[in-house]
Amino acid sequence: MYMKMNIEDIQILCNRITDEAGKVFVAADKEVLVKILSGFLAGGHILFEDNPGLGKTLLVKVFAKITGCQWKRIQFTPDLMPADIIGTKVWKGVNSNFEIEKGPIFTNFLLADEINRAMPKTQSALLEAMEEHQVTIEGNTYKLGSLFTVMATQNPIEMEGTYPLPEAQMDRFIMKISMGYLDSIEKESEILRRRVLWKRDDPTEDIKSAVTQDQLVALLNEAENVYVDENIIRYITEIIRCTRKNSNVRLGASPRGGLALLKLSRAFALINGRNFVIPDDVKLLAANALSHRIMLNVDSILEGVTPESVINMILKGVEVPKEYTRGI
Ligand SMILES: Nc1ncnc2c1ncn2[C@@H]1O[C@H](COP(=O)(O)OP(=O)(O)O)[C@@H](O)[C@H]1O
Ligand SMILES: [Mg+2]
Repeated sequence: MYMKMNIEDIQILCNRITDEAGKVFVAADKEVLVKILSGFLAGGHILFEDNPGLGKTLLVKVFAKITGCQWKRIQFTPDLMPADIIGTKVWKGVNSNFEIEKGPIFTNFLLADEINRAMPKTQSALLEAMEEHQVTIEGNTYKLGSLFTVMATQNPIEMEGTYPLPEAQMDRFIMKISMGYLDSIEKESEILRRRVLWKRDDPTEDIKSAVTQDQLVALLNEAENVYVDENIIRYITEIIRCTRKNSNVRLGASPRGGLALLKLSRAFALINGRNFVIPDDVKLLAANALSHRIMLNVDSILEGVTPESVINMILKGVEVPKEYTRGI
């Protein structure tokens, strides 16, 4: 059993998490922090994609600290091997036998930094853990905790020295977040102001968690109780199916993409103090849930079409449900 929380308390708690994150990380708007929290409360793994220096690593560290999760970081490099992530059998001379040495993946919150710098074989070492919350070392299977979450960062694939994540790996991320550059001089200069105040580059050491583990588990469970009307389910499904029919698209979103959009919408509703999903939740998260699952035709890419623009086009074309119930 997990503790029950009422919807007002949930909203206050979630606000506290995003407010605390915003005190360290300068976000373009609060919405991006709410989206990230949605991904986490939906029990998913999140991919952060941006150019170097936009605060990806900082943002992930801030979330790890604020949620109070045990966390580890792996810096992905071209020579990183699967065993460096999941662990391996090692010879223990003292005991004269082989023992399993568990890798850094045995944690709640894994910061997979610059994930696309490692070889696909190494990237794939995460697949079993991400999908099934377990890893297999030398034929033995070990369970990971229920809070296990990968927060991966990557530089855009056009950059040198990167190996694109295989499609199957991409599909395992519930959402992709690209923050982009801050839009105003006021916000961007705030980064420098804070640096002057903190007198160091990494202020995350002092961050205290804003939630207890029990509260986190409760939030994750409450997200599973958010009501979704049949018309909203159809709306999501229609969006997914349109990604496969669009003429710019070579590979559309999988059913897993539909599940991701459903879970994100429920978590987003919960954070906003609602125990039912509305069409706006779906619209707001569609690009985050689906853009990394859609492969475009080469011609469309050359014309400047992006997965995000395709999703926006699709959202304009799909009829938004006007009627939906708000619970049973
Ligand atoms: N939006 C932001 N808010 C606060 N600090 C930022 C922001 N963007 C960048 N920084 C600072 O810039 C530096 C680079 O950030 P980092 O997280 O290492 O970038 P990335 O991982 O994207 O390459 C860090 O010192 C970080 O504190
Ligand atoms: Mg980084």
